[in-house]
Amino acid sequence: MKLNIVITGGAGFIGSHVVRLFVNKYPEYNIINLDKLTYAGNLANLKDVEDKPNYKFVKMDICDFDAFLKLMQDEKIDGIIHLAAESHVDRSIKDPFTFARTNVMGTLSLLQAAKLYWESLPERYEGKRFYHISTDEVYGALEMTNPEGIKPPFTTTASSSEHHLAYGKDFFYETTKYQPHSPYSASKASSDHFVRAFHDTYGMPTIVTNCSNNYGPYQFPEKLIPLFINNIRHRKPLPVYGKGENVRDWLYVEDHARAIDTIFHKGRIAETYNIGGFNEWKNIDIIKTVINTVDRLLGRPEGADMDLITYVTDRLGHDARYAIDSTKLQKELGWEPSLQFEEGIEKTVKWYLDNQAWMDNVTSGDYQKYYEDMYDKR
Ligand code: NAD
Ligand code: TYD
Repeated sequence: MKLNIVITGGAGFIGSHVVRLFVNKYPEYNIINLDKLTYAGNLANLKDVEDKPNYKFVKMDICDFDAFLKLMQDEKIDGIIHLAAESHVDRSIKDPFTFARTNVMGTLSLLQAAKLYWESLPERYEGKRFYHISTDEVYGALEMTNPEGIKPPFTTTASSSEHHLAYGKDFFYETTKYQPHSPYSASKASSDHFVRAFHDTYGMPTIVTNCSNNYGPYQFPEKLIPLFINNIRHRKPLPVYGKGENVRDWLYVEDHARAIDTIFHKGRIAETYNIGGFNEWKNIDIIKTVINTVDRLLGRPEGADMDLITYVTDRLGHDARYAIDSTKLQKELGWEPSLQFEEGIEKTVKWYLDNQAWMDNVTSGDYQKYYEDMYDKR
């Protein structure tokens, strides 16, 4: 089957992995990467696919309704995989308006243009898909009832024997009530509601997925793992928010991209799927693992850079714990994470150390000013 697919935010971290997977796996599809190229968008993330005949890049703001409608019509778009967003919680605390504009108004603009185009066709919504990528942060924060962590098994899934220590009794389920705390998660929650409303009101074939924290190659170094790898390499301080005891649930980015592929093709319309690998870690434990790994790979004594750990003022409204239950996706569609965290971290650290030119490129220019503003005036 031949499909014309737009992937928004394809020049960003997760989007670039999704574009790469689709371009390589589906030569019969036309893949259009639509991205505004904000500070987080970088076409160097896609050097290896840019010359493929089934790939095209279009520079566009998702808020530009007219331009997007024209693109839908010109390219006869069948499917939209929507990842474009402002994605960093710290930036949302400083500048919530940009998050409302892109994440809420931008998503609404795509929905309305898709509706107009698809409703103009004889087959209407038949064979069409609007797939919206969201985050577990919309569910709010879970309690840390077991600060020391408890051993598996604590739930019944295919991979329960491989769970990392769980720091609470409960998980985020697809049925968990939305309770976003940050301007970022509030804007994502709002966009999720609009997507579902377009199904319920107009019958648009939508799917929403909520994924846990991703890590891996090509992540912009304002997020914990790449920022810290780069700082350790250059022996710069590692700003740990609060006590470093917040818990996040980590998934290797290529596993997220594979889940998106599975759900785009096999997911049921109007459903929500949680995506995660049952892999909870306290920030400070990740940070120590990253320090040891960077030190070892750079030939420094393991742990030599522990003194870079610098506890700083906590993030405002810092969510204590995220933990995703992805049983539905695992049981219904047969997806499973492919990597253990230790393996994924090793691969990730190695990638950043081997790709210093990429890091130097994205950390030049405005990036420096951003970090001066973000950290020096705390
Ligand atoms: P990212 O910040 O690395 O990339 C976002 C991309 O969107 C960039 O290429 C940027 O140029 C583009 N973009 C931003 N505003 C735009 C606009 N107005 N018009 C067009 N393009 C625009 O983000 P990411 O980490 O790859 O996240 C991608 C999606 O996945 C987001 O929707 C995010 O909410 C979601 N998500 C991320 C994570 C995570 O851990 N990173 C986890 C779960 C869900
Ligand atoms: P981040 O990568 O920003 O992802 P998110 O806020 O979406 O979970 O942060 C991951 C965790 O690491 C989060 O608990 C905040 C913490 N953190 C630090 O302690 N220091 C930092 O410099 C950053 C960027 C994050």
